[in-house]
Order: sequence, then structure tokens, then C-alpha cells
Amino acid sequence: MYDINEVRKQFPMLNGKSMQNKPLIFLDNASTTFKPQCVIDAVEKYYTNNNSNSHRGDYDLAYNMDQTVINARKVIAEFVNCSPDEVVFTSGATMALNMAAFSFAKVVLKEGDEILIEEDGHASNVLPWYAVAKETGAIIKFVPLDEKGKICTENVRKSLTNKTKIVALAAATNVLGYSIDVPAIAKLVHEVGAYFVVDGAQSVPHLKTDFKGWDIDFLGFSAHKMCGPTGIGCLIGKYELLKMMKPLLYGGGMNEMFYKDGSFTLLNPPSCLEAGTQNLAAVAGFMEAVKFISALGIDNIHKHDVELHNYAISKLKDNEKVILYNPDADSCNIVFNIKDVFAQDEATLLNYHGIAVRSGNHCAKMLVNYIGLPYTCRASTYLYTSKEDIDALIEAINNGGDILDVYFN
Ligand code: ALA
Repeated sequence: MYDINEVRKQFPMLNGKSMQNKPLIFLDNASTTFKPQCVIDAVEKYYTNNNSNSHRGDYDLAYNMDQTVINARKVIAEFVNCSPDEVVFTSGATMALNMAAFSFAKVVLKEGDEILIEEDGHASNVLPWYAVAKETGAIIKFVPLDEKGKICTENVRKSLTNKTKIVALAAATNVLGYSIDVPAIAKLVHEVGAYFVVDGAQSVPHLKTDFKGWDIDFLGFSAHKMCGPTGIGCLIGKYELLKMMKPLLYGGGMNEMFYKDGSFTLLNPPSCLEAGTQNLAAVAGFMEAVKFISALGIDNIHKHDVELHNYAISKLKDNEKVILYNPDADSCNIVFNIKDVFAQDEATLLNYHGIAVRSGNHCAKMLVNYIGLPYTCRASTYLYTSKEDIDALIEAINNGGDILDVYFN
């Protein structure tokens, strides 16, 4: 296990104050995470020392940039267990999942094929499938949630048919934070000849991921939820499937040759799927973020999340005014409401105490069908969250006054 105090020293944002001039307690890590100094330095170093394009120059700076991109692919590939040439840089998980839908699924889907998704899914893993279904005549189906709001392997098995072509599920969901048995589901998906797309936005930063070992077809995730910069992420795809994809974007860096008669040839993946100049400063920062997480150990990070989650639940469960929605999740998310209090009012009150949580539907707008109301508060932890942060949350929930204090103090 790592030393939380040493870890915290590496995050400049943790020295900051909230806008109320109180110590900042950041519990919105499922939305985005703070960056350690090594990531900030890597981004700064790109702009101050290493600024150049990759794959386009015959001088030292450009060569160094090429090496950075090559090394970043290697570091990321090792982290999720895939080959470096299976790593496609994207702007984030949203673009990765849209590419899985429009560059891959659109190529293989026929009218009447079924796309299996989840009702508790984030918009990024629902809307691309709705849109591609409209364009292809495919049919959207949902894996039913079990009584706890989880996707269980048995319900996936029952939902698969010989028409299922795509199954797109989150390895861990962004609200209730439940994780699925990825390898068991992958096996079932492949038995009916379908492809398995995994939304890893909330799982890759917190849980061990084994792309090859779990036999996933596509995996999307973002750097900014794992201590990396915004504007960068990955689509990981099996190489033979990447080869089947029709690029979303055409331009420089992805073509081999083009001619006046309108014909052209493309480079091999991943290059043909990365048209234009990538967010190179962010690529450098992403690599440092993955190294940082790897050094701490992803299993230690998960253990830390679960300890904080369970600690918070143990302190809140006896408070009659608190409604808890995911008390048994092995997750960094603590999802709650205060009886008779609108979630956004509670979040505003917590903000008054310097505590940042997210409230609302959290981009999972159909989860209302399970929870029964559209709005909850979500406190989410990460590798630098301390027990004292959770104590502050509990104190503010239990004794923090009410929303009128915010307006009249
Ligand atoms: N996907 C992010 C969240 O769940 C934005 O908050």
C-alpha cells in the first residue's frame, strides 16, 4: 500500500482552497481527477522544450516527439495488456466509443441486427448506439438491471440472441459504480458471434484491466479520469478489427498515397485512425499519468477506493435522513440523497463547506427508471482522497446546516 500523505504532496491542486476560502475537498473524481506534478511537468516540457509535430520532421525535436508517442503507446499497452499497435489515440472515451460505433459497428451491422446496451449507461455509451442503429436499421435492446441496479452475467446471457451483433457495456458504471465480470461476459458475447465493446472510462483508472486476457474487442477510456490531461484518451481494439474500420477522419498522417483520379491508400492501424496532429502535449502527460498509477499499483488504488467507500457507508448508514443507493458497491462512488432535499441543494450546501460533489443525473439519464427519481448526489474518491476528506463530507452531511445557511450567512 502506498503512503497517502506522500501521494497528496504531488498534487498542487490539493494545496488549494475552495472558493469559500476553506480547504478544498474534491470528491468529484468520477468526473475528472487532479494531476500530479509529473504530469503537469510533462505537458509544460512539451511546450517549453520539446514543441514539434510527430511523424513529420527530419530533425531531432521531431524524432524525440516520435519516440514520445511510440513510448506512450508502449506504456499504455502494457498497462491494459494489449499490443502497442492496438492503441489508437482519441480525444477521450466519448470519441473512442463513437469510433467503435461509426467506424466499426456501422461497417458490420445489418438491418435487424441487435445492439445490446444498458439502461444505466452513460450518454457516451448509449447515444452512439442509438445513432448508429438509426443509420443501419439495427435494433437497440437493454440488459435488465438486477434488483441492486447491477448488470449480472446471467442477465447478459438471457439477453443475447443469434441476432446480437454488438454488446456495449461499462466495465464499471459512472453512477452506482458497479463492475461487471468482463471475461465471463466476453465469452458469452463471442459464443453468439457478437462483438464486445467495453466503456472503460470509470474502470481503467480504478481496476486492473486485461484487454487480451479478457478477450475484449474494443475498449475506450480517457486520460483525465486517471490523473492525465484532458483531450486525450484511447480506443484499444483487436488489431484485426482495427483493420476492418472505416476512418471517421481523413487527412494527414493516415494516408499512404492519393492520386488525381480520386483514389487513395491508407496506412495500417493505428495511424489510419489518427488523422491530423494529435494532442501531443497531452500524449506526453498521459504517459506520465499511466507511469504514476502503475508505480502506485492499480490494485492498491482499488483497495483504497473500496476502503473509503466502506468507511463512508459505515458512517452514513445509521443517519435516517440519508438515502444510500450503492452501499455494497466495490467502488469509488458514494451515491446518496438527503430525505426531502433536492440533490442540487445538497451539493450547493456541501460546496459552501468547501466540498465538491456532483449532483443531478450524472449523464446516465435512464437510471431514473431504476432509482425512481432523476437526481442524486455522487461523492467520488481517487488515489489521493484521504479519510479526513470523507470525515469532512460526513460532518457536513450530518451537521452542516441547511441550504438557507448558504444564502443568509
Ligand atoms: N462521465 C463523467 C461523470 O460521470 C463526466 O461525471
